Amino acid sequence: MTEHESNNLNDNLPNDTATSLPEGDEIAAEQASADDKPVYRRGIKSFVIRAGRLTKGQEQALERKWTEWGLELADGPIVPSDVFGRAAHTVLEIGYGMGQSLVEMAVQAPEKNFIGVEVHLPGVGSLLNLAEEAGVINVRTYKDDAIEVLKLIPDNSIDTIQLFFPDPWHKKKHHKRRIVQTEFAQTLRRILKPGGIFHMATDWENYMEHMIEVMDAQAGYENIAGSGQCVERPDERPLTRFEKRGQGKGHGVWDIKYRKAD
Ligand SMILES: C[S@@+](CC[C@H](N)C(=O)[O-])C[C@H]1O[C@@H](n2cnc3c(N)ncnc32)[C@H](O)[C@@H]1O
Repeated sequence: MTEHESNNLNDNLPNDTATSLPEGDEIAAEQASADDKPVYRRGIKSFVIRAGRLTKGQEQALERKWTEWGLELADGPIVPSDVFGRAAHTVLEIGYGMGQSLVEMAVQAPEKNFIGVEVHLPGVGSLLNLAEEAGVINVRTYKDDAIEVLKLIPDNSIDTIQLFFPDPWHKKKHHKRRIVQTEFAQTLRRILKPGGIFHMATDWENYMEHMIEVMDAQAGYENIAGSGQCVERPDERPLTRFEKRGQGKGHGVWDIKYRKAD
């Protein structure tokens, strides 16, 4: 029986789903071998697997919908139009959290295909639940590290990539864990269609500056707002849970968009 055919949800769980690494220990281990190389490296993750059990609803949504809507790394490279059975504007969202805004966008744009990538399994269960409740059929998801998923996406195949409120890694010594780095930016450029858009949002000013610094330095991208600038908050981005929480605390929010040069 392949992983895809399994009916037992636990057969499909990532090995490390139930463990929560003490962040300090993990970082210390990485620091020991990494301090002299300030670039993005294999093995340094942009996330820490959070403890947290699946709710009954999330678990049942995974059992009901994973075979139909889940995408597996083990199945290898994908052709987005084959995944959905139709060629359409394709949006890839990295780190969708609990999936509210992704589902909302899928409801608002039934003509588009949406591929989500989220490493936190309760979030994946939540997305499937919400998508089923909303009656949308244009969402598929991976439950893996986006860095691994991106290797399976063909060149010039995605119209829009969304990265909303990525983990900010506030401390300077953790900045190397931020997902927006040169190698990541160039991988996204590879999979974007010419003219395709990479849309980021953050409520952490220093991460906004980091995003712009990394992205403005990339060959093959154009900052839509002009070098060093953010765009106005676009209507198409629904208010996420994180943004709502930030607003309550009086935080700013910055949207940044880059176009892949033709
Ligand atoms: C701060 S939360 C924001 C969630 C959501 N975008 C929102 O605005 O509510 C960042 C999310 O990115 C996910 N994440 C971080 N690094 C990831 C990676 N390499 N691959 C997949 N998901 C990742 C985390 O699990 C977390 O759910």
